[in-house]
Amino acid sequence: MELVDHTLRDDQIPDHCPIPLSDAERDALKSEIADQLKARGAVLIAHYYVDGAIQDLAEETGGFVSDSLEMARFGKRHAADTLIVAGVRFMGETAKILSPEKRVFMPTLQAECSLDIGCPADEFEAFCKAHPERTVVVYANTSARVKALSDWVVTSSVALPIVRHLHEKGEKILWAPDRHLGHYIKTQTGADMMLWQGTCVVHDEFKTRGLQDLLALYPDAGVLVHPESPAEVIALADAVGSTSGILKAASELPHRMFIVATDKGMFHKLRQKNPDKRFIEAPTAGDGATCKSCAHCPWMAMNHLQVLADLLRSETLMRANEIHVDPEIGRRAMVPLNRMLDFKY
Ligand code: 13P
Ligand code: SF4
Repeated sequence: MELVDHTLRDDQIPDHCPIPLSDAERDALKSEIADQLKARGAVLIAHYYVDGAIQDLAEETGGFVSDSLEMARFGKRHAADTLIVAGVRFMGETAKILSPEKRVFMPTLQAECSLDIGCPADEFEAFCKAHPERTVVVYANTSARVKALSDWVVTSSVALPIVRHLHEKGEKILWAPDRHLGHYIKTQTGADMMLWQGTCVVHDEFKTRGLQDLLALYPDAGVLVHPESPAEVIALADAVGSTSGILKAASELPHRMFIVATDKGMFHKLRQKNPDKRFIEAPTAGDGATCKSCAHCPWMAMNHLQVLADLLRSETLMRANEIHVDPEIGRRAMVPLNRMLDFKY
């Protein structure tokens, strides 16, 4: 079966620049949301790429901020029966699949992911059927239906050890959807991997030439890269890792300054944890004034304090933004997800 390019067209990417809040507006919304979370017995789980104020609020109210793997673990483990997931839809769906008895809500269900959009389940099923001899490994950034078709789900935190383990067992892999992450894992492990051709609209934009120019200006800077970036950008990295991997490398490496190739939401936690270090954005190719050029995921940006406050004060919006996963699909998707969570490395 022919490999199709699943890069999104520009008109499939929303322009999403939220209006900034004043300090007073931000504090008032945070306090209202904290009260609502308490009244509803709900816990807020946020990804590192969402608005810094939402990340702080999650931590201040007993919730959690992390990468996609640890968000899934936390939601499953926590006693609360209501989870509010600030991130993109696959993160809310993962929480629901792992805890079908809990109610899971998101500020907006329109918060998608280019990798998820670029891997439609019907097309992916045909691809799997054309290669029945291969073990199907899918990235967490996919729909519940695609996960249900897989043998393993992985996030960028655990993709390397899991694929290495499968390769050592002699298994050939069908990988989807991110081609850059797939290529990185293939080169690191030597595994036989057939790669679906999807990309992240944010990381695909980082460019080698701009990064080299910046490195010429700051030769002592360390380079931190998320593996959804192109191979030539990864080749310039001092550390390649998931969002939590980037955070860890920033505190462990000796550099005083870092150029960071990942979504700019990440800078909030990087600066909070490393106040004595300097972080600058890796350059993108864009001409400016578009979401693709500002290295901020337009879907993550939909997680705005105002939207979250509106959700929690309205039963109608809560109903409209609750995550539902077909129970049979959920049961099937839970198997490869739990395989990932149980994997020891
Ligand atoms: P992490 O699993 O590294 O948090 O990444 C999720 C993601 O969507 C990166 O673009
Ligand atoms: Fe998806 Fe990229 Fe946004 Fe992550 S940053 S959620 S991979 S579009």
